[in-house]
Amino acid sequence: MVCVLKLGVVGLGYVGIVSSLGFAELGFNVVGVDVDTARVESLSKGRPPVFEPGLEDYLKRNMKRAGGSGGGGVAVFTTDYTRLLGCDVVFITVGTPPREGGGQNLEYFEGAVKMLREVGFRGVVVPRSTVLPGTTERVVAPLFEHVGYNPEFLAEGSAFRDFFNPDKIVLGYSDGVALEALRKVYSPFNAPKLELGVREAELVKYANNAFLALKVAYADEVGNIAKKLGVDVYRVMDAVGLDRRIGRAFLNAGIGFGGSCFPKDLAALIHLSRDLGYEPVLLDAVLEQNRRQPLMLVDLLRTRVRERLGRPSLRGLRVGVLGLAFKPNTDDVREAPSIRVVSALLDEGVEVHAYDPRAEENFRRLSPRFSSNVVYHATAKECVEACEAVLILTEWEEFRDASLYGGRLVLEGRRVLGVEGVCW
Ligand code: UGA
Repeated sequence: MVCVLKLGVVGLGYVGIVSSLGFAELGFNVVGVDVDTARVESLSKGRPPVFEPGLEDYLKRNMKRAGGSGGGGVAVFTTDYTRLLGCDVVFITVGTPPREGGGQNLEYFEGAVKMLREVGFRGVVVPRSTVLPGTTERVVAPLFEHVGYNPEFLAEGSAFRDFFNPDKIVLGYSDGVALEALRKVYSPFNAPKLELGVREAELVKYANNAFLALKVAYADEVGNIAKKLGVDVYRVMDAVGLDRRIGRAFLNAGIGFGGSCFPKDLAALIHLSRDLGYEPVLLDAVLEQNRRQPLMLVDLLRTRVRERLGRPSLRGLRVGVLGLAFKPNTDDVREAPSIRVVSALLDEGVEVHAYDPRAEENFRRLSPRFSSNVVYHATAKECVEACEAVLILTEWEEFRDASLYGGRLVLEGRRVLGVEGVCW
């Protein structure tokens, strides 16, 4: 007899939603819990509370299965923690946002663990949230007998694809019950499975993200040098990336990495390292390189505006910013390079116009300055037509249409058109 476990997921952000629907799709019954009533209602009605490719379809399919057609697993969404009592394994996927100074804010994480304990949950507890090594042992293990740690490697914009086709599955475990349960949960997957200690599994996630961030910062830095040499960094990286020891992925030079993961995880790892008495010079340099990179585009704009438009400064210039999200196919603007670029432009007295197909609302919410001092447009065309110069900050597919730009000065922060860019 195949024993199908019942799963719980606490925290319905990107990771929690994708995990709930992904496991349901694989035949598990899942209870997804969040304290945010609006979010739970929206998911229960099949309406995506965030933008993620495929999410609407997976929600629809889940609703169909819930309605009894087709059989298979079903994910239900609720604010009621007691519904988790019937679960064998509960994953914790709440956010662990950065604290002032680079540490980790564990408020939601600790809150979720405490609630799980208060309702009397006795099964296996497995954080998937990115937490610093030692956190699970310190916060979860004293309250529960069976504890694991299972890092996620879901990138926003391709989260469902990443869920169903992982490069690897890391199963951190503290005892045999936790390990057996995790083996069962992941039995439908073919990927290599690594069974590690909880603390090792926690560090895998940070080491993974730090290395990817390092690759991006490295590509950006080589790109800055290549531009001065008059050399195309993309052709260089195509060659470098063919070395199997290196690989081509994450060597696309541009205006730096953003998002809720790399900047936050690097800062937290640096913070932890200092606490442990080790000065992490390399990781520090990655963050510093990345902090400067978006401003290279503003410097380039200043130079080209002087040369081509004959204006001594950017003051009063109408500049269109295309793309606000930290990467395409997401509405997420956390730590997006657009934040630094738009702030710098506003500081210099530029009249900033902006367009993003998904992220305008989130960008407006970041600061009163962004909501009232930036002119937003409903289409890329309208935005471009209102401006004398254009900066492309996110590689949304629709920006690839060269006819949009009508001979204006266009500079790219991400390679979209192949015109002049921040490091090419
Ligand atoms: C990242 C990791 O890729 C996931 O594996 C991980 O699970 C996730 O963080 C997390 O910790 O939860 P994500 O932040 O969604 O995912 O996005 P990425 O696709 O990794 O992109 C990060 C940033 O790097 C973006 O701003 C992107 O534009 C930039 N980037 C990426 C480059 O500038 N060049 C590249 O070649 C690749």
